[in-house]
Amino acid sequence: MQTNQFRLDRFIAKQCQIKKAAVRLMVAQKRITVNDLPPQGVDQIICQFDKVCLDGKCFAYTKAKYFLLHKPVGVVSATKDDAHKTVLDLLSTDDASDLHIVGRLDLNTSGLVLLTNDGRFSKALMHPDAKVDKVYLVTLANELTDEYASAFAKGMEFSYEGITTMPAQLEIVSQKRALVTLQEGKYHQIKRMFGRFRNPVLALHRQSVGSFTLTDVAVGQYRALTQAEVEQVLSKTQ
Ligand code: URA
Repeated sequence: MQTNQFRLDRFIAKQCQIKKAAVRLMVAQKRITVNDLPPQGVDQIICQFDKVCLDGKCFAYTKAKYFLLHKPVGVVSATKDDAHKTVLDLLSTDDASDLHIVGRLDLNTSGLVLLTNDGRFSKALMHPDAKVDKVYLVTLANELTDEYASAFAKGMEFSYEGITTMPAQLEIVSQKRALVTLQEGKYHQIKRMFGRFRNPVLALHRQSVGSFTLTDVAVGQYRALTQAEVEQVLSKTQ
């Protein structure tokens, strides 16, 4: 969902069919609240998720939703699918409406998926300029060698899309297991990067996105993010 932003005075003037100057007076008279607090000023920027009230009566607003889910293998990162269970099928009906997925995982990848209806939140986490670390545990068919880390750090050219991957970090954790940290998410990126070494990925699991981890969230389960967690992400967009 796109997040629309407005100045408070413009929003109220439009809703009430009055002049913006009249809104200034209403603010001075303490008749307006934004999220149950006095507004910062008539120029405060609000969006569809803010609860704006005049004389205690609230204008329509959308409840912002933010969830962290532990995706099992075999569940598709899509909102609709005819063949497979989707990540939305793992949520209660009330929670599932209007959500989009913040960075998809392949059908046979497990791990951390974030879902929201707030476009600012997904952009803050997924835009490559935001440089948010996504950490994956990768299990491979063949043994790893020292060459892998430098190739991942250098970036790989994907000629089909005409791009070079951003520097990625690879840490060998055992002969056939590595932790890979990406700050972007190209189509099948990790599988294709290991494909350069003709080393098939047998299992792929996303452990974390930024400071979010799967602690206390079992496979197939989810939880709502706390207000502090949401604010920490959104503070980077302002
Ligand atoms: N890279 C992949 O190849 N698949 C994923 O699901 C995520 C990253």
